[in-house]
Amino acid sequence: MQQLLAMKLILTTLVVAVLALSAGTATATCDTLTVGHYRQSCRAAETIVRDTVKLYFSKDQTVTAPLLRLHFHDCFVRGCDGSVLLNATAASGPAEKDAMPNQSLDGFYVIDAAKAALEKECPGVVSCADILALAARDAVSMAAGNINGASLWQVPTGRLDGRVSSAAEAVANLPSSFADFAKLKEQFGSKGLNVQDLAILSGAHAIGNSHCVSFAKRLYNFTGKGDADPTLDRAYAAAVLRAACPPRFDNATTVEMVPGSSTTFDTDYYRLVASRRGLFHSDQALLQDREAAATVRVMARSSRQAFFRRFGVSMVRMGNVGVLTGAAGEIRKNCALIN
Ligand code: HEM
Ligand SMILES: *[C@@H]1O[C@H](CO)[C@@H](O)[C@H](O)[C@H]1NC(C)=O
Ligand SMILES: *[C@@H]1O[C@H](CO)[C@@H](O)[C@H](O)[C@H]1NC(C)=O
Ligand SMILES: *[C@@H]1O[C@H](CO)[C@@H](O)[C@H](O)[C@H]1NC(C)=O
Ligand SMILES: *[C@@H]1O[C@H](CO)[C@@H](O)[C@H](O)[C@H]1NC(C)=O
Repeated sequence: MQQLLAMKLILTTLVVAVLALSAGTATATCDTLTVGHYRQSCRAAETIVRDTVKLYFSKDQTVTAPLLRLHFHDCFVRGCDGSVLLNATAASGPAEKDAMPNQSLDGFYVIDAAKAALEKECPGVVSCADILALAARDAVSMAAGNINGASLWQVPTGRLDGRVSSAAEAVANLPSSFADFAKLKEQFGSKGLNVQDLAILSGAHAIGNSHCVSFAKRLYNFTGKGDADPTLDRAYAAAVLRAACPPRFDNATTVEMVPGSSTTFDTDYYRLVASRRGLFHSDQALLQDREAAATVRVMARSSRQAFFRRFGVSMVRMGNVGVLTGAAGEIRKNCALIN
């Protein structure tokens, strides 16, 4: 009996040690977050976030893209810990927000409004990292046509907020729009995300806009020899992209990711990429890999519902990257400042 108990103890210790080890790596772990984490501690939490997003969405549907992108940028730098929201301080130095790849990050005001409402309802309970994950889900669901209806996926919650935000880490971890497939696969892989996740999450570029600087090199000087990116449809480049971004483009000029359809979340992105009209080299790079290219072609022909299901699965996996629990984090009072 005693031996059995001792065995059990050793086994349990081993299991706990293995769990602790795997939680320490910045990969997708699913055992720390739960759907409905705030059911007891802040019953209205998810409703408050959704109502806040809906308030802004009903005024301006372009709010979805920045909210979705914020969650992605948060998760890829130090895990989904709200670090993208932190302001720089004299002590911290430049924050993620201040890094070059932050170009046009936006939507902070929606997160701040949701946080203010949550602090009134249940102070100190709901993390900024969770608000980002919920707001991205709600905004995307609305852009998919479900303004009053169902969410496209359930968001496991219980993330804590981090205390560090570094511009240099943002530069190192966020993929470049000029990246080739191998680099993208490596960067997603380092977060525990696979080729399917990469191909499906890239479908986020069904919505939103880009500044010329993020792709103009493809039009005029791809390899530094005054050439164009050979993976880009030439007629499309001339008629649409060069017209929008002339050689001496204005830094403020933006182009819709999907011309004429940049606020509806759907499978348009995959048809663009399949016809060599993806806006970024990194979008077009999906065709460099057999598995990713197959996903692009399947999604280009699939129903919206089929895409949404897979997008939800990959968003949950992305939302699990490097999440903080226990003493490793806090619940910020103000999303821009550590407590
Ligand atoms: C695969 C690697 C990725 C690269 C290289 C990339 C790069 C970019 C770039 C350069 C922009 C335009 C920034 C600008 O010039 O204004 C952009 C916009 C955007 N990205 Fe990505 N991205 C990637 C993956 C993702 C993922 C995984 C998501 C979300 C799940 C996402 C969501 C968005 C959205 C929604 C926008 C539009 C933002 C707006 O209109 O304000 N991206 N991305
Ligand atoms: C964070 O920085 C932004 C932009 O500089 C500023 O508008 C905002 O007031 C700052 N937030 C706090 C809490 O200091
Ligand atoms: C992004 O970083 C640049 C500097 O690289 C800075 O001038 C700009 O204000 C930042 N944007 C945001 C939204 O913080
Ligand atoms: C093209 O790129 C090369 C190498 O980066 C650079 O030297 C050259 O000035 C660029 N040309 C133009 C027109 O921008
Ligand atoms: C456009 O951006 C570039 C590089 O970020 C900068 O050097 C240049 O001064 C900007 N031009 C204008 C008109 O703001």
